[in-house]
Amino acid sequence: MLEKESTQTNAANERWKNLGSEAFKSYDKSRKIFRDLNALIVQDTFGAYASPKDERIFEIGAGDGELARLVSPDIKRRLISSDLNPKFAKMIQGKNRDLSVLSADAEKLPLRDGEIDIVSGYSTFDILPNMEIAAREIGRVLKENGKFIHFMDLQHTEYFVNDILGSDKRVFPNLSRFESQNEGGPQYHLFHSYAKVEDIRSVLEKIKGNYELYDLVNYYLEEPAAAYREMNTSGLEIMARALKKRGVNFTPLDYPMLFQERVGEIFSGIGFEILKNEMELREKTLNSDQILPPDMKGFNCVRRRAGMNIFINGPDIEPGKLKLISELHVFVAEKK
Ligand SMILES: C[S@@+](CC[C@H](N)C(=O)[O-])C[C@H]1O[C@@H](n2cnc3c(N)ncnc32)[C@H](O)[C@@H]1O
Repeated sequence: MLEKESTQTNAANERWKNLGSEAFKSYDKSRKIFRDLNALIVQDTFGAYASPKDERIFEIGAGDGELARLVSPDIKRRLISSDLNPKFAKMIQGKNRDLSVLSADAEKLPLRDGEIDIVSGYSTFDILPNMEIAAREIGRVLKENGKFIHFMDLQHTEYFVNDILGSDKRVFPNLSRFESQNEGGPQYHLFHSYAKVEDIRSVLEKIKGNYELYDLVNYYLEEPAAAYREMNTSGLEIMARALKKRGVNFTPLDYPMLFQERVGEIFSGIGFEILKNEMELREKTLNSDQILPPDMKGFNCVRRRAGMNIFINGPDIEPGKLKLISELHVFVAEKK
């Protein structure tokens, strides 16, 4: 392994190993409301790509067992869940007495060549510091025609951008306007996108005369981590208006798009056939007062906290109703 890769891996592994079970509380808060929809996507995907003969389904980076919550009982029976962090493995075991659980590093799986039918993961592959190494390891343990089935519901991590993508892409703040009847009118929200440095430079060229705006964009270009700090709404509005006035045609890549690009390249690069690499959607309409538990009050304002899962109010939806949309990135590749 190259020295840089090994330093990255060590730092990343330390970070994950130091986390306790509270790490999943914030995930759970936003996930619980989408769980039944996500379960549909997960179960449909296993239904389409797993055969009843696939007896050994191995999960990497299981965390506190989200995938085990979403799969059908028939898939759960065949699931072996693992996580780098032994505390997490123990926690999953505590909640799922019948599940096979172990502690394992996705880069060095304690498995023999070709002994696994399906490797799976849920919001895991995207956080690995060396995706190529983990992909080769997945290829090693899978049988011929074995599959890698991965789901992703979480969005950005600064870590992914800085350590994995390298320096040619940067975090860029993006503004979205979100109509919400419940919250009393239009609101503006910040979410983060990842753009190529040269695209941001071309934006800078076009906004040279506007010092305020220029400084703002330049700030994000020079200091990508800053995009993770709170920004006030008026600053964002100024930026959005000024970019529009200058006809800036800027299409930022967002995290799922980047991940889609990257994971496809990696698995094609090691000879897998890509069977699916896209966002899957499931939706339902609900009474807004029924669906929002007290701790989710204001959830509409933090659109994307739960990955791409969003609430929508709109002209096609009756007042007092909400359309709940769940969007998971689904990746399926077959070992050739
Ligand atoms: C973003 S969390 C997702 C956890 C869980 N699948 C979920 O969706 O809630 C990523 C998980 O991967 C684990 N992890 C990090 N690096 C790993 C590695 N090298 N090998 C295996 N698991 C790893 C972490 O401990 C963490 O539980």
